[in-house]
Amino acid sequence: MLPQEAIRTKRDGGALDAAAIRELVAGISDGGLGDAQVGALAMAIYLQGMDAAETVALTEAVRDSGEVLDWAGLDLPGPVLDKHSTGGVGDLVSLVLGPWVAACGGHVPMISGRGLGHTGGTLDKLESIPGYSVSPDTATFRRLVRDVGVAIIGQTGELAPADKRLYAVRDITATVESLPLIVASILGKKLACGLDALVMDVKVGSGAFMPTEDASRELATTIAEVASQAGTPTTALLTDMSQPLAPCAGNALEVREALAVLSGERRDGRLLEVTRALAAEMLLAGGLAPDREAALAKLDARLASGAAAERFARMVAGLGGPADLLEAADRHLPAAPVLREVRAERAGYLRRMDTRALGLSVVELGGGRRAPGDAIDPAVGLADIAALGERVSAGQPLAMIHARSEHDAQRAEHRLREAIEIGEPPAEPPTLIRDVIR
Ligand code: URA
Repeated sequence: MLPQEAIRTKRDGGALDAAAIRELVAGISDGGLGDAQVGALAMAIYLQGMDAAETVALTEAVRDSGEVLDWAGLDLPGPVLDKHSTGGVGDLVSLVLGPWVAACGGHVPMISGRGLGHTGGTLDKLESIPGYSVSPDTATFRRLVRDVGVAIIGQTGELAPADKRLYAVRDITATVESLPLIVASILGKKLACGLDALVMDVKVGSGAFMPTEDASRELATTIAEVASQAGTPTTALLTDMSQPLAPCAGNALEVREALAVLSGERRDGRLLEVTRALAAEMLLAGGLAPDREAALAKLDARLASGAAAERFARMVAGLGGPADLLEAADRHLPAAPVLREVRAERAGYLRRMDTRALGLSVVELGGGRRAPGDAIDPAVGLADIAALGERVSAGQPLAMIHARSEHDAQRAEHRLREAIEIGEPPAEPPTLIRDVIR
C-alpha cells in the first residue's frame, strides 16, 4: 500500500492490517517515508487511535525493525527477564532489582535510558561510578548476562531503530501522548531484548509520566495485553509516585542508596517494598519460584546472604568500575561540596508533594539535563526526604540538599518549600502498590 493511502486510511478512522503497518514501519527505519509522512502518520494515530490488533502489529514491527537479541546460543541455565518503568523520582529500582533477580537464577539484559524531563535515568546513576561503561562491546554484554546474570547498559544503535526516528518526530509534532504510540515505543525496545518475560512498573501520582491514575491503569493494562499477545508474557504493577520512591534523588546519592539496600543496611522502606514486589513477579514469570510466597522467601534469602550485593559488585567491575565499590563507596562516589538542611517552618502533617517539582529541582541543581547532551553533575541532589503522612514539628528537617554552590542550594530550598505541603488534618500515606495486572 502506498504510504499516503495508509495514512489516509488511518486519518479517516479505518484500521490498518499488519502488512500495511509493517511497510510503514520499514519506511520509518529505512528513510522510505519522509519526515512529513512520519509526522502525518503519528498525528493520524494520535487522533484516531489504534485497536488491539493494530497496536500489537505496530509493537512487533518496531521490535523487528532492528536487531532482536537472541540468547539461545548461550545455553543459559535460567530465564531471560527484565523490568521496565515509566520513570519517576528517586526510582532506583533497576539498580537493586537486576542483581537481586540475577542472584535468584534470572538473566537480566537491562537496556536502560537517561534522565528525561523531571525523571532520573538509570544510566546517569550508574555513570556516577567512576569507570562504569554503559556501552560495552556486545561480547562483554553477553558474557556478563551469562556469567553474572545481569548487565545494565545503554541502548545500542541496532535495537528498534524505527522507534528512535518515530519518537524524535513525535517529540516535535505534539504526538507523544498517544496510547498505541507509547505502548509500541516502550515495548518495541524492550521486546527486542529477547525476553522470556517482562514486568512493567507503571507509576501513578504527582511524579508519574501519565497524568491520572485512570490513564496509568489504561497504559498498564494495554502494555500487559499487547506484550503478551506479541509473545512475551508481561505483568504490570501500578505503583505510587506521589512522592520520591527512595528518600533521595540524585545520581550518586541513589547509587549509595542502592548499596545500602543491597548490603542490608537499609532493611525497609518504599524502595525495598516495590523492588521486592517487582522481583517476585519476575521470579514467578520465569518459573524460578512456584508461588509468590516462595518467590519472596527466595528473594529475602539471597539479599540476606549478600548474593545480590555480590552480583552488583561483579557487574560494576565487569563494566569497568572499581572492584571494591561496596567496601569503599565513599572513596569512589562523588560528594557535593555544599549541604543545606531544609527545616519545616510550621508543625503539621506532610499532606502532599509535587514530586515532579522535586525532580526538576534535582535537574536545576545540575543532576539532570536542560538540553540533550548536557553534562550532568553526579554529586548533587536531595537526601533524607521526609515521607508523606509523617508528622513534623516546626524546625524538623524535611530534606538535605546536596549542591555545587550556595546559590544553587538556596534556589533548591525555595523549590522544595513550594513542593511540600504541611498542614492539618492528618493524611494517610498513599498506597504503594495499587494493583497487579496480569
Ligand atoms: N517512553 C518511551 O520509551 N516511549 C514513549 O513513547 C514514552 C515513554
